Amino acid sequence: MPLWVAGSKSREIFDDEQQHLAPGAQSFALFSQICIDHGEGALLFDVDGNRFIDLMAGIGVASLGYAHPKYVAAMQKQIAKVHVGSFTSENRAVLVRMLAELAPGDINRTQLYSSGAEAVESALRLAKSYTGRNEVIGFWGGFHGKTAGVLPLLGSNFKFDLGPLAPGRYSSPYDPAHRCGFDKSHRECDCDAIGFLKKKIQYETSNDIAAIIVEPIQGTAGNIVPRRGFMKELRQLCDELGALMIADEMITGFGRTGKMWGIEHEDGIVPDIMSCGKGFGGGFPMSGLLIREEVAFAKPWANPSGSSSSYGGNPMAAAAARVTLETILEEGLVENSRRVGEKMLAEVQRWEREIPIIKDARGRGLMIGFDIVEPGTDTLLDKKLTRQIFDACLSRGVLSMIYNPEVRINPPLVIPEELAMEALAITEDVLREAADSLAH
Ligand SMILES: Cc1ncc(COP(=O)(O)O)c(C=O)c1O
Repeated sequence: MPLWVAGSKSREIFDDEQQHLAPGAQSFALFSQICIDHGEGALLFDVDGNRFIDLMAGIGVASLGYAHPKYVAAMQKQIAKVHVGSFTSENRAVLVRMLAELAPGDINRTQLYSSGAEAVESALRLAKSYTGRNEVIGFWGGFHGKTAGVLPLLGSNFKFDLGPLAPGRYSSPYDPAHRCGFDKSHRECDCDAIGFLKKKIQYETSNDIAAIIVEPIQGTAGNIVPRRGFMKELRQLCDELGALMIADEMITGFGRTGKMWGIEHEDGIVPDIMSCGKGFGGGFPMSGLLIREEVAFAKPWANPSGSSSSYGGNPMAAAAARVTLETILEEGLVENSRRVGEKMLAEVQRWEREIPIIKDARGRGLMIGFDIVEPGTDTLLDKKLTRQIFDACLSRGVLSMIYNPEVRINPPLVIPEELAMEALAITEDVLREAADSLAH
């Protein structure tokens, strides 16, 4: 299988940067070693002139893709006027009104930040302010950022060696639709994630639960879709406990899953807080909390300067988010995500039937996942081998998060069907070749 070698210009700049860039940058940037020159729609071009179909969108960030003319025009216009400050701006006023209209139920208030973790931290402060309680529960496989307050809520070994962790944080098994949260085979699984969570609260906590935080689809874990009914049962549990339900819509928000919000895949659920970011600003660092009217006024969070930040919702961020949201609506990108996503998922489901290393095709809209396994088994393929698959895709012009065996596909929402199919055809060839070579 051919291994990817970045072009000479990319490598020169990459090597130069590596002299002083601290370690720990995002894996795909380190693995690919490409220096991007520009993008257009769902395509990226490196400084050597290589063309890549982007199935990552900066991990669900570039919702409008690259160099979208409306986005470019809005940002150019704004930066020539004013770019700093928390004063009221027309863009921000329009934006928060649009969000109140689009958000479910009586979610009516927005506060703005510049990173996802910062927004989640703020959600935890608000939950404390509203309930007066201290404990928070997340889920195995969950991801909410890398700052100290949210670290203990990550359902992965990311927090290893970073303790002591903030007290009063727990996590419980997610309830995936196609696999078992307790690692039993799906066919045997009769596990009751909500029942387990109730027992956990009974035996492990001090019954002081301020909030339960959940991703409507788990992104970092591999675009894992929950069992239908799980969100509704969580909403009911939060009501029984008097705790807030925080839906972390960082990836799932703004059309990524084929609906405006990931939580809308189950009818009638209104979280108390939705944290969002990534695709929100189309790439400009923009995150926020969408909050139920009743909850948003809790102090000290609601005191003047109690929930603010230096950059949150500044004139550039507000312009970016407004034009992104307007473009998503005007160009029917939620529908594009649903329609193209459905076709892409059908392809991946076909792979599952035909290619013995593909399992558990899953997803909603343009948030698709599958597992790469040892042929004919449920055992995830070694990461050294999936890295070769990533390299082979890259060398044929497809950029995707296929370097992990729990593969995530999240292209820009603007991706046209033909381009998505071109990328999948290339990926399929690579996977078939990998399956053949593993069979021998
Ligand atoms: C669901 C979820 N929440 C929060 C975050 C943190 O966002 P950020 O990297 O902007 O801090 C992420 C990032 O991947 C995420 O996927």
